[in-house]
Amino acid sequence: MTNQTDKDRVLIFDTTLRDGEQSPGATMTHSEKLEIAELLDEMGVDIIEAGFPIASEGDFAAVSEIAERSKNAVICGLARAQFGDIDRCWEAVKHAKQPRIHTFIGTSPLHRAIPNLTKDEMAERIHETVSHARNLCDNVQWSPMDATRTEWDYLARVVEIAIKAGASTINIPDTVGYTAPNESADLIRRLIAEVPGADEVIFATHCHNDLGMATANSLAAVEGGARQIECTINGLGERAGNTALEEVVMALKVRGDIMPFYTNIDTKKIMHISRRVSTVSGFPVQFNKAIVGKNAFAHESGIHQDGMLKNAETFEIMRPEDVGIAGTSLPLGKHSGRAALRAKLADLGYEVGDNQLKDVFVRFKELADRKKEVYDDDIIALVSATADGGTDRLQIVSLKVVCGTGGPAEATLEMEIDGKDVMATESGDGPVDATFKAVRALHPNQARLQLYQVNAVTEGTDAQATVSVRLEEDGVIATGQSANTDTVVASAQAYVSALNRLLVRRDKMGSGADRREISYKELN
Ligand code: KIV
Ligand code: ZN
Repeated sequence: MTNQTDKDRVLIFDTTLRDGEQSPGATMTHSEKLEIAELLDEMGVDIIEAGFPIASEGDFAAVSEIAERSKNAVICGLARAQFGDIDRCWEAVKHAKQPRIHTFIGTSPLHRAIPNLTKDEMAERIHETVSHARNLCDNVQWSPMDATRTEWDYLARVVEIAIKAGASTINIPDTVGYTAPNESADLIRRLIAEVPGADEVIFATHCHNDLGMATANSLAAVEGGARQIECTINGLGERAGNTALEEVVMALKVRGDIMPFYTNIDTKKIMHISRRVSTVSGFPVQFNKAIVGKNAFAHESGIHQDGMLKNAETFEIMRPEDVGIAGTSLPLGKHSGRAALRAKLADLGYEVGDNQLKDVFVRFKELADRKKEVYDDDIIALVSATADGGTDRLQIVSLKVVCGTGGPAEATLEMEIDGKDVMATESGDGPVDATFKAVRALHPNQARLQLYQVNAVTEGTDAQATVSVRLEEDGVIATGQSANTDTVVASAQAYVSALNRLLVRRDKMGSGADRREISYKELN
């Protein structure tokens, strides 16, 4: 776009590591959070909401380390309207080059009832807590949670109080995904027009996707005057999720003709971070998801293919390269060496250390022996499945499964557990059931299987299957993923990988002392 000025710039506030990670089952490890924060910073996200420091020691440690490592982005932590929360948040973000405290309180009638505060008492609390945050940090964001269901007069009143107390960003959350585009635009427009001091601050929009309108509502809010969009990669988030970063960013880029705004995002980095967030959160991206779904740029029907061959613009409003999907590249084969693999990984956005390269290379060779051509998606599946590193306590040595139409399946599994070789044979209702039973026989556990999902990476009967397994034990959740041309082997590996991660998490968390006990919705 030409002739754009600062007032047309829309800041991107990413909350994948806070609102996204809060989604049940999407918990990430410390090192995964650091990796995602680094990718967000590199892609040009303006503000990274790195976590909710009071929630647990783990959240505090992640926010602190992300703050220390941050390069360009503002690093923000969330805090309820309580001095203790705000102090803890400041402790975590203060080492960032640009720290921000984000404090909030639920202002709608339903949310006011939780801490049982009158309107006046809540107004006083907002004044005190925003002032307190402002005394610690120059950059304070304030949110009236459930703003879209808050009475207009009260919303305008508390927004004015927060501005007077020193907040420089006012975020207007549609916490339950209730608003609609015209309402979203009008609300921001009216706040800017009628609240004293509103022209001195930035208004932000934070939408949830319960009615599938989060992207539309966020863009409408920008039309109404908001200049910060809060969003997550892949729309990760509780219930139906948050506004998807990739959707708002690409909508502004592709439809600059009717929405003359711009962001600082390097859109070529979208696909890589989308895959990483999907892998580490264990939340697969739906195939037909806008921008980052597997089918988003696939043109299957004959008519489409014919049109595409003549002119890509016939059916494409953006180019796959714009979001970081590499053009058709030559597949690797069994004669490809380590250097070719490293170059391919770099092309796909993966910087792997020597140890990980060794591991991926071994698995690549095994795969190339079974599969003539190894495509980009195969490589991505391999590297995603080997990203854990470290020494796993549980390792699969061998697996043999007998199954068919004549009776139950039988799995004979040999494992190395804490350095000791053990073996078990179990039967079950199908090969996967028998295999999982054999794992449990060798490593008894109470983990509940929350998710078991199989996807084919490429086409053909020799395609790799990626398997995702999510386990929950005693409130601790862990996911494992694996890829193999043998679906049962991939299933066993994903299950064992989830168990290994569960063990690591349990070791770190002890017997429950550091479980996430504080929810951002608890407002006492
Ligand atoms: O959805 C919401 O209201 C939130 C707030 C904490 C900003 O996530
Ligand atoms: Zn939210």
